[in-house]
Amino acid sequence: MESMGTMRRTHSCNDLTSANIGEEITLMGWVLRRRDHGGVIFIDLRDRHGLTQVIFNPEVNAEIHAKAHQLRSEWVIAVRGTVAARLEGMANKKLATGEIEVFIDELRILNTAETPPFPLDEESDVSENLRLQYRYMDLRRPEMTANLVMRHTAVQSIRSYLNDNEFLEVETPMLTRSTPEGARDYLVPSRVNAGKFYALPQSPQLFKQLLMMAGMDRYYQIVKCFRDEDLRADRQPEFTQIDMELSFMNEEQIIEITEGMIAKLFKDTLDLDVAPPFPRISYDEAMNRFGTDRPDIRFGFELVDLSEIARTCSFKVFRSIADGGGTVRAINAKGCADFSRKDLDVLTDYVAQFGAKGLAWVKMKADGEWQSPIAKFFSDEERAAMTEALDAEEGDLLFFGADKASVVFPVLGELRVELARRLNLLDKKTFSFVWVTDFPLVEYDENRKRFQALHHPFTAPKEEDIDKLETDPAAVYSQAYDLVLNGTEIGGGSIRIHRRDIQARVLAALDIDEAEANDKFGFLLRALELGAPPHGGLAFGLDRLLMIITGSDSIREVIAFPKTQKATCPLTEAPASVSRKQLTELYLRPDWKES
Ligand code: AMO
Ligand code: AMP
Repeated sequence: MESMGTMRRTHSCNDLTSANIGEEITLMGWVLRRRDHGGVIFIDLRDRHGLTQVIFNPEVNAEIHAKAHQLRSEWVIAVRGTVAARLEGMANKKLATGEIEVFIDELRILNTAETPPFPLDEESDVSENLRLQYRYMDLRRPEMTANLVMRHTAVQSIRSYLNDNEFLEVETPMLTRSTPEGARDYLVPSRVNAGKFYALPQSPQLFKQLLMMAGMDRYYQIVKCFRDEDLRADRQPEFTQIDMELSFMNEEQIIEITEGMIAKLFKDTLDLDVAPPFPRISYDEAMNRFGTDRPDIRFGFELVDLSEIARTCSFKVFRSIADGGGTVRAINAKGCADFSRKDLDVLTDYVAQFGAKGLAWVKMKADGEWQSPIAKFFSDEERAAMTEALDAEEGDLLFFGADKASVVFPVLGELRVELARRLNLLDKKTFSFVWVTDFPLVEYDENRKRFQALHHPFTAPKEEDIDKLETDPAAVYSQAYDLVLNGTEIGGGSIRIHRRDIQARVLAALDIDEAEANDKFGFLLRALELGAPPHGGLAFGLDRLLMIITGSDSIREVIAFPKTQKATCPLTEAPASVSRKQLTELYLRPDWKES
């Protein structure tokens, strides 16, 4: 092994073009691959920026050529040489450096490498666990490097926009008290306060509100948040928010300023004009049309309410559900009448996981005729009415869901997306934003038999609904808004309560008594009594935004060192056991065993 000595890197592996022909240059990087052609050795040299082809010719320098013979994948080298044009017809248009190659006069082997645990230069079926265990190798792959570069670009874009708009970047504590965002907390035991615990923040929600009360006016932070919840492709136990809060602004103004940030972000990362203002729909409309509060509006298949027709129809299953306060809805999968029995069975199984008790279907034949196991249960008039409501014609496939709304919405909502997936309608290069607004303030938690905040307990009710807080909390709407992109919730926020009396009424509606409220966030309630300005804000999921921007299937692809679905890190093997001494110092029982 050799040192760099006096060698100085003059260019990156992505820099050299025909403008550099004849120059003497020095590159440093990793050997991607070595090819021997008729005695001449070609190396693709890689660094974070790109690739350059370097050449060792035995006729020019036999000694260096012999040395180059030893080189293996992922060895780290420094080379000095002269830039030359590639031979006629040998240029590689796909490569920024594809017009040139470098003839080497000096080679230093800075480090060797054992055979990599997986090949870095080709699409191969490597398990994600292995990739995460050797993440530093995985990140050498250009696709992964590009994701981190994109993340950097995104963060710079956001910072620059917010700085230009007079936002102040302020850091808030990581060792803090629980912030109610609906997930479990990660707890950190205190050594100096026996039996006490910090919680890692689920979001900086309370601190950013306190910063408004401190007069900071406009705040942002690109900040880690921690939530102990079941993981999915778009959820990590620690993730990053672009967190914002503003004073003296209404919902309209906050949405507008945020759209500017998103527009700049897409311009700076993808050179795309996403052209705000984005469409807006109310929560109720989103549920009615798409069965979800995070609608993917890249495609149709909207839900149609057939409850009125079902109420008097001859199919007992539908009639009793519609009569008993349930709902009967359907979607028209245009042109899908050629789905096979097997397809239909697979879809029926698919929606069962969302609680569907069945999935009635109809294939539309000529002249409005229904081919369906349920056709016989309906009169000609009923079939005609449903056909018309669904705008159905020959070749269409209709799906019906009948149940409580809380079952039919997710069933048909998920079916819509699954159909689009099967029909390849989810174009990753289309970016369809939609604001969902006018959320209900609370929802009823069947398990705990009480109302809980749909967003969080600090969200302001709509002014015109405040009087219903005590009499009919379920009918109170809030000043909350989510931004949804291609069916993923990328951000959400609200106007906050800034009056102590209204905060008390909302907490009462949530069945949180004064004692509990004071214990959990008395400090915030106190601050509301000491001059709190009107304020509101929102937070974006940076990882989710980048997942969509880079066209990745999981947020793990845009996080340098993510956790697995089981919240572990195969690289560091976190979480890990700790010594008995550490546990006792923290007043934790070292003899704990799973019972
Ligand atoms: P919310 O809980 O909606 O709001 O979170 C804001 C955004 O953060 C992203 N997100 C996640 N990303 C990855 N993994 C997770 N586990 C995860 N959980 C959430 C989502 C989401 O839209 N304090 C409020 C914001 C506010 O009111 O200002 C909050 O945290 O993209
Ligand atoms: P059954 O009479 O129970 O055999 O149901 C007839 C058809 O209606 C089958 O295709 C079932 O999948 C469908 N079905 C039954 N219950 C429901 C429901 N709650 N929602 C939608 N379809 C249903």
